[in-house]
Order: sequence, then C-alpha cells, then structure tokens
Amino acid sequence: MATQVSRSEQSSEFLAKQGIHDEWRSDYLNPYLEPFYELAFARVREALGAKPGSTLLDAGCGSCVHAARFARAGVKVVGVDFSQAALTDARRALERQGLGASVELHQADLRKLPLESGKFPAISCWGVLMHVPDLEPALAELARVLAPGGRLAIMENNVHSWHVRWFEPTLRAFKRVLGRKVGSVAKTERGLEEWRDEGLMVRKLDPAWIQAAMERLGLRLVTRFSGQFTEMYTSLPTRLLKRAVYRFNQRWLEANRSPARAMGNIFIFEKCE
Ligand SMILES: C[S@@+](CC[C@H](N)C(=O)[O-])C[C@H]1O[C@@H](n2cnc3c(N)ncnc32)[C@H](O)[C@@H]1O
Repeated sequence: MATQVSRSEQSSEFLAKQGIHDEWRSDYLNPYLEPFYELAFARVREALGAKPGSTLLDAGCGSCVHAARFARAGVKVVGVDFSQAALTDARRALERQGLGASVELHQADLRKLPLESGKFPAISCWGVLMHVPDLEPALAELARVLAPGGRLAIMENNVHSWHVRWFEPTLRAFKRVLGRKVGSVAKTERGLEEWRDEGLMVRKLDPAWIQAAMERLGLRLVTRFSGQFTEMYTSLPTRLLKRAVYRFNQRWLEANRSPARAMGNIFIFEKCE
C-alpha cells in the first residue's frame, strides 16, 4: 500500500509537467487521427445519450481535444484534470475555437472529485485510468458523481489484445538487444501494469476485472466496443508506416469489429436507478 501511495505521488508529479502532454499530443492527437476520433466519439456520444444541451463530465480532459468535440456537438462540458499545464493549453485552445463558454474547467484529482454526487448524466473518461496507479478510488468517484440511470464511457487498453500479447513483448525484446531501457511490467488482478522510468504508469486492463469492479459499485456494463486495433504507430520510424497503421485502425473502427483482440476498448456502463 505504501509503495502504491508513493508511486501515485510520483505519477502525479510526472503528469503535472508539460513535457508528457506535448508528447501525447504529437503521438495521439495529430491531424491524421482526426477521422478516427470523429467516428469514435460520435459512437461514444450516441452510446452515452449525450444530446445537445445536456451536460457531460470529461474526466481527465487533458488539453480538451475531445472535450471540444463534445462541445461542437452542443454538449455542455465540465472538464477535470490534475495537470495545470494541460488545463492552461486547454483553455487557450478552447478560446481559439470559440468554445470557451461551452467548457468549464477544474483542476482536480479523479480520486477526490470536488463535485456533487449524482450530478452528471454522462461521463467520458478516455485514456486516463491507465495512468492512475490506485484505480479503485478513481472508479468509486466516477460512480459517485454519475447520476442514477446515467452512463459512463471508459476507454482503456485491452490486456488480451494482439498488440499487448504479441507486439509489445517483441518490441521489448528488440529494445533489450539494442541495450535500450524498458520499463518493469507486473501482472496484477487489474491487468499488466508497466512502470516507465520517468514515473509513468501504463496499464493494460483486464476487461473482466473492470466489469466486476463496476458491478460492485452499482454500474452494469451496457456495451463494449472496439477503438483502435493497435498503437504500433508510436514505435514506427517513418510517417508512411505510421499512416498505414492509422488507415488500418480507421478501417477497423468503420467495420465495428469485435473488441476482444483490439487494443482500444470502449466500455459503456450505466448506473442502476
Ligand atoms: C493520456 S492523457 C488523456 C487526455 C484526454 N482524455 C485525451 O484523450 O486527450 C491522460 C490525462 O489524465 C490526466 N490524469 C491522470 N491521472 C489523473 C488523476 N488522478 N486525476 C486527474 N487527472 C488525471 C493526465 O493529467 C492527462 O491529462
């Protein structure tokens, strides 16, 4: 427990810095990925029932690239993130797009949200929980602030995906041969938890574990669908190769393939009335 607490602090300190947010923006939020996100978030919006004029919590909003997507669809967004660096970028980008009035931002930790219980009919938490070492308090807070009958979308990486089972071990083996540093990976009941040197946790989640954990909090799984098949593009050396993978992921999403072997998994939970 003590280790987990100190690791949480280490992770909070690391995520507070600007550098990692710049790296994420270039790896995951570049213009080539826009068609993928537009389709993925249209599905998320529909599954959440997030209609124009309704309110949504973007938990771990980062620089608000996806919060802006909800706002452009007429949804009023409350964004929370514990990184002031990310929130400052977010505020600037939202104002630039004329969306400043549609998104309210708060600096807050998901594990202790300064928000009223049962306030939100819809919550989106995209690519965030994988970086939260002590996951259970964050899940409990999301369940607490969700309104009865409300829906929560969580996007996490699937421990059973081909990317995690085949590609990542191969990549780690190559890195070792080349004398490059690799993080330490531990198998836990939640999935595979990797600690990178800088203090960042990256978890590959066991879908059965999160389903059971949410059931204990009074939320049932409504549906689970596929996001991207692989994020191999982050390790490829040329733009041409990266774009080939973006295209493959786009086709995968368009075909609405099974999430069982895909890396990105989107879970939609509903809070029992
Ligand atoms: C990979 S980024 C994803 C950001 C955004 N959801 C997106 O998809 O662009 C993860 C975000 O979660 C935030 N985060 C991680 N742990 C958090 C916590 N315990 N409380 C609040 N925010 C957290 C980080 O600061 C970061 O902005």
